[in-house]
Amino acid sequence: MKVVVIGGSGLIGSKLVSRLRMLGHEAVSASPKSGVNSFTGQGLSAVMKGASVVIDVSNAPSWEASAVMQFFQTATRNLLEAEAAAGVAHHVALSVVGAERMPGSTYMPAKVAQEAAIQAGPTPYTIVRATQFFEFVGAVAESGMVSGTIRLPPIQFQPISADDVASMVARIAVSNALNSTVEIAGPERASMERFVRMLFEAKKDPRPVIVTPNALYFEAEVSDESLVPGGEAKLGKLYFRDWLALGSGTGLPADVLPN
Ligand SMILES: NC(=O)c1ccc[n+]([C@@H]2O[C@H](COP(=O)([O-])OP(=O)(O)OC[C@H]3O[C@@H](n4cnc5c(N)ncnc54)[C@H](OP(=O)(O)O)[C@@H]3O)[C@@H](O)[C@H]2O)c1
Repeated sequence: MKVVVIGGSGLIGSKLVSRLRMLGHEAVSASPKSGVNSFTGQGLSAVMKGASVVIDVSNAPSWEASAVMQFFQTATRNLLEAEAAAGVAHHVALSVVGAERMPGSTYMPAKVAQEAAIQAGPTPYTIVRATQFFEFVGAVAESGMVSGTIRLPPIQFQPISADDVASMVARIAVSNALNSTVEIAGPERASMERFVRMLFEAKKDPRPVIVTPNALYFEAEVSDESLVPGGEAKLGKLYFRDWLALGSGTGLPADVLPN
């Protein structure tokens, strides 16, 4: 079947396009680089002609609060309109576990608005909420840096590899729409500190890491369970330590992972 991947040039999108093609589907990568812009609407009706499924794994170019909100609201509206005109049978979007639990975030309210627009829209849908990607753990650490020290909140963390996300989203996308939300996470839950220390050890990063209840997560207040699935979640297969052992996340070539 024809599957359009909005954000097909991105981290998840490019892996998703490969997975879908391996499964025998006609996967079309769509993003501004290939002349398709979900924010302006450019190229949407042409790319959706004959498509059965649209997967939105795009991301906003700016994470400033009003810009990111405008991006996800406008892009989702444009996508749903084009899908209705083209007769698309399944809209899949990648969101974030716990997005509604971080109202102080500049980013998460926009993901909540994206989900609400999809739920209210005309296309049958499945929303996939993922925990943080392994590839994002370094950015999580950097966001906590104050004067050369990494300050982390004392919270649980359950990151997932981008490869697992792509495999799971591909399978969900070519199945029937659930008209509900599924959560996916990594195979191991531990403190955020533990994952950052594993990464720093692998990268030989000497910066001190401290855990303090005052630390924020990308400027948002978080509690112990903000970032981990509350109920049942489908779990990825790859463990963070095995991903690191392959040289991923350490500055060595990262794209050598098994499928
Ligand atoms: N990072 C995490 O830990 C995490 C966790 C859970 C969920 N998520 C969600 O996962 C999704 C994908 O993240 P990612 O890290 O794979 O993203 P990414 O690598 O930053 O890629 C972003 C993609 O969005 C495309 N894009 C930007 N503006 C667009 C527009 N106007 N129209 C169409 N496409 C546009 C880009 O296209 P060009 O290359 O052409 O610019 C690129 O393909 C995001 O929605 C994010 O909320 C992330």
